[in-house]
Amino acid sequence: MKPGNALLAQVREDVQNRTRRTRETAAMRRMVRETRLSADNLVYPMFVVEGGGVKQEISSMPGQHQLSVDRLVEECREVAALRIPGVILFGIPQHKDDAASEAYAGKGVVQEAVRAVKDALPELCVITDVCLCEYMDHGHCGVVEEGRILNDPTLDLLERTAVSHAQAGADMIAPSDMMDGRVGAIRRALDRAGFAQTPVMAYSAKFASAFYGPFRVAAESAPAFGDRSSYQMDPANGREAQREIDFDIAEGADIVMVKPALVYLDVLARARDRVNLPMAAYNVSGEFAMLAAACRNGWLDPERAFMEVLTAIRRAGADLILTYFAKDAARRLQGDAKTPLSFM
Ligand code: PBG
Repeated sequence: MKPGNALLAQVREDVQNRTRRTRETAAMRRMVRETRLSADNLVYPMFVVEGGGVKQEISSMPGQHQLSVDRLVEECREVAALRIPGVILFGIPQHKDDAASEAYAGKGVVQEAVRAVKDALPELCVITDVCLCEYMDHGHCGVVEEGRILNDPTLDLLERTAVSHAQAGADMIAPSDMMDGRVGAIRRALDRAGFAQTPVMAYSAKFASAFYGPFRVAAESAPAFGDRSSYQMDPANGREAQREIDFDIAEGADIVMVKPALVYLDVLARARDRVNLPMAAYNVSGEFAMLAAACRNGWLDPERAFMEVLTAIRRAGADLILTYFAKDAARRLQGDAKTPLSFM
């Protein structure tokens, strides 16, 4: 060994690793922060019902509402003013049947909502959730025959739904049903109908999760029999999630999603390492309700907890976060520390 190396080894031994140096001041912490959360990363999910003047709080989701089209437009103005780039709309029709006919009705509740929001706020990105469960009398995401959920007959209805949303002016289509081949089917249907420019955000790795419970109260979409395990993914399957993501990319997805977010951050992080498409994560209703409940009980500090959750989802690799916290986060990020949190 050369004498210089011995000296170097000695110096190394004397050097303490002091990661606290760059934690000392707020300015320093800002400089070395690895993950940024911005309003640009947020998408706000909203529930539309028929009628006028309706703003009905959802019992399982404090501060979230079922809104009629007129009130939805009002709330979208607030969302746009907070510089949140997009909303995702879920429709709750009055009439449900076994063909989900309101899902693709020209004057369906989502179609009317899209037209009204695009008319009032052309700059706001309006995404539509494409699924049949809210429109089916049995609450399943596909066509049912003898207690089974049929794959290919469901694709026809999903295609019609997606095209009707695009015709109403939707900026992006987000299929959440988990039928095989639906991304390709919807892509082709959109292209044939003249919507080659309308992107598809696929709920690619969507798990059969208990954390959708509060949403099903909000969307009145709980299945009347059985559960969704024959089409949504087994929560135990991380590798299969990567296959689902690959299939959706091959079928033409523009953005791929992992859902739920928090309990599946490993799936998100693994996909982030391999996937060069923008990635979304859905911070679902149960994750929202769980945090809101703990905060309302005084068990968690609301101001810190929800921002930590959103930052963690970004750190794991999401470009976009679909979250009921979107408006609260946008306000805090703008420096508004005063407006009370909507879930408290
Ligand atoms: C429709 C759909 C669901 C969610 C988004 N789209 C519910 C489900 O699959 O049962 C859940 C969203 C949430 O929990 O916030 N299929």
